[in-house]
Amino acid sequence: MKVGIPKESFPGESRVAVIPETVKQFVERGIKVSVEAGAGALADFVDAQYKEAGAGIEKSHDKLLAGSDMVLMIQRPSDKEVAKMRQGAALITFLQPFSNPGLLKKLAARKISAMSMEMVPRISRAQNMDALSSMATVAGYKAVLLAANAFHRFFPMFMTAAGTIAPARALVLGAGVAGLQAIATAKRLGAIVEAFDTRPVVKEQVESLGARFVALDVSQEEAEDQGGYAKQLSADHYKKELELIAGRLTRTDIVITTAQIPGKPAPLLITEKMVKQMKTGSVVVDLAAESGGNCALTQAGKTVVKHGVTMIGTTNLPGMMPVHASQMYSKNIGNLVLHLVGEDGLTLNFDDPITAGVVVTHGGKLIHPALMGG
Ligand code: NAI
Repeated sequence: MKVGIPKESFPGESRVAVIPETVKQFVERGIKVSVEAGAGALADFVDAQYKEAGAGIEKSHDKLLAGSDMVLMIQRPSDKEVAKMRQGAALITFLQPFSNPGLLKKLAARKISAMSMEMVPRISRAQNMDALSSMATVAGYKAVLLAANAFHRFFPMFMTAAGTIAPARALVLGAGVAGLQAIATAKRLGAIVEAFDTRPVVKEQVESLGARFVALDVSQEEAEDQGGYAKQLSADHYKKELELIAGRLTRTDIVITTAQIPGKPAPLLITEKMVKQMKTGSVVVDLAAESGGNCALTQAGKTVVKHGVTMIGTTNLPGMMPVHASQMYSKNIGNLVLHLVGEDGLTLNFDDPITAGVVVTHGGKLIHPALMGG
């Protein structure tokens, strides 16, 4: 069984799927590892560290793909890369399977057993494989730093001989994984932080981080499905939510938006009219930029200034912190690989909820029920 780790070819990507520490674990399990030369360079992991961990270094991207039984990546492969992979090989990466049906067809046509890191089930046994949460943690932290950088003022309060500086006021919309990390980071920088989420259960977590929870009068049953995920609000509740947010925005300096409902476009929480009422110099970082944005004026991948407000729609925040993002991703994908690979190599047991959850194409077919509409 030979695992291959290519240099990511996706534009702007600086992370690497597997770091030397995980290579070592693979080698101890009897898995051969080949790493493309320079694969970890942008994340500060050099070839010599991979060699020392027991990996072979392959200079050619194409040869690495063609020679691997299992390819481990972060970003989805290009069509050219799929064509280079060996028929029947396995691939584990973020595939964004709901938005890339064409890619899934190509993977199936090459009989590749493709596994999607987004599809790792959120069950306790698979918690250490949950790369979405890892990357959301990085994004929540970095979002606040981007906001602080674009903000023309301090975050903390200062009392100096040159006068008193008032602290910044931050509002975090959506207190899931990214939101909670954004709250913690904004607090550490000294801002006064408020957070809002439709799920009342997160109140305690928000408060434990020292932030104020802004509550909407909605019951847990109305806000949350059985899996603990947010549900779409009724029209009446949604109207109330927008009023509540509008009321807060006029006295907020920094807004970090992270609201999402799985499988749906991001809920619109900040309209242009609301932006117009914000203070000049305010900053919005919209983490949902790629799925439509929580703010009407966000442009994915861009920073725009309108009505005196800066809206940041950067899409790959984890890629801006490649060392720790790679380290966390490597741990997650490594745990998945070690779960799937036994003494006889890769064994796909579809009675196992983790395997059944992640495998999207196998044996020449698209096999994941969630992707087949059934
Ligand atoms: P999550 O599912 O853990 O949290 C989302 C939160 O939004 C939940 O707590 C949910 O209750 C809340 N929510 C849903 N509807 C809401 C509404 N109408 N009003 C207020 N809150 C609402 O998701 P996670 O992992 O924290 O990710 C958050 C967002 O960040 C996602 O859109 C994700 O795609 C994005 N993300 C962006 C990255 C980037 O580089 N730009 C990197 C990682 C994640």
